[in-house]
Amino acid sequence: MKAIVFGSLNIDKVYSLSHLPEKGETLSCGRYEIHVGGKGLNQSISLSNSGMEVYMAGQIGSDGIFLKEYLEKVGVNTSLIKVTDSFSGHAVIEVDPDGQNQMILFPGANRETTPDYCDEVLENFSKGDLILMQYETSQVEYMIEKAHEKGLVIALNPSPYVDKLKDFDYSRIDYLILNEYEGQSITGESDNGKVIEALCEKVGGAVIFTLGGDGAIYSDGKVTAKVPAFKVNAVDTTGAGDTFTGYILNSLMSGKAPEEALRFASAASAIAVTKAGAAETIPSLEQVNNFLMEN
Ligand code: RIB
Repeated sequence: MKAIVFGSLNIDKVYSLSHLPEKGETLSCGRYEIHVGGKGLNQSISLSNSGMEVYMAGQIGSDGIFLKEYLEKVGVNTSLIKVTDSFSGHAVIEVDPDGQNQMILFPGANRETTPDYCDEVLENFSKGDLILMQYETSQVEYMIEKAHEKGLVIALNPSPYVDKLKDFDYSRIDYLILNEYEGQSITGESDNGKVIEALCEKVGGAVIFTLGGDGAIYSDGKVTAKVPAFKVNAVDTTGAGDTFTGYILNSLMSGKAPEEALRFASAASAIAVTKAGAAETIPSLEQVNNFLMEN
C-alpha cells in the first residue's frame, strides 16, 4: 500500500511576537523566519516519517521550488507535484511566547488545481492505497468522488474550516481527522460528545477528534477510545495537528488498536510543539518510540 497526499504546499513566514496583536495594533517583531509548510506538505512528511511510502501531489509556483526540494530531501516522492506560473501559497504566521499562533493564508497555486490534474495524479494509485486531503486546495470533492470510484481509502482533514464544510458529503470518508473548532463548526453542536455522535452519523468510517491540551478521541460508532495529551513545554503549536494526522493514519492502517494509535500520534505531536516551525519539527519514528518509552 502507498499513500498520496493531495494538498497544499506553502511558504510559511513566521513572526515571533511578544503577544498576538489586537485590532488596530502595530507590533514590532523580534524574529522572522521562513519555513516550509502547508497542511498537505506537513502531513506528507508526517506520514512518510511514520513509515509509509508517500507521494505528494499539489501545485507550486517557481518561488516554491525549495518546498519540493525539501520534500525530496526528507524522502517524500515529489514526481506528481506540478509547477505553475502562479505564486506559491504562503502563510503569514504570528506566534506568541506560549507557542499559540494565528495565521493568514494566501492560497496561490494550491487553489488552482483542475480535474485533469486530479485524474493524472490518480492514475498512479489503485484499490487499497490511501489518499489524504485537507481543505487548502481546490478539487477536494472531485478527488473524493474519483478516489472512491477507484477503491482508495479516503482520509480528510477538513481544515481550515469554511462554511461549505457544513453541508459536505462525508459518507465516502474512511477517516475524518479534525479539531474541536472544526467539529463544532461542522455540526453546530457545542458539547463534544454530541459533536462526535453527529460526525459519526455523517462519516462512512471513523472520526478522530483532537482536543489540543485535552487529548484526542477516536470513534467509529462501535469503538470509542480517548487518550490525554502529553504534558510538554510548547514553543510553537503550528503543524501539531498535521503531525498527529500522519501518525494516526499510519498507526490505524497498520492495525494498531485505536487507543494505542491515539497515544502514538499524540506523542508525535507533543514532540513537534517543543520546537519552532511546522514541517521541520515533525519527529522521526525513532524519536516517537523513544519518547513513548520515556513517558
Ligand atoms: O497546519 C499548519 C499549516 O497551516 C502551516 O504550515 C501553514 O502553511 C498552513 O497551511
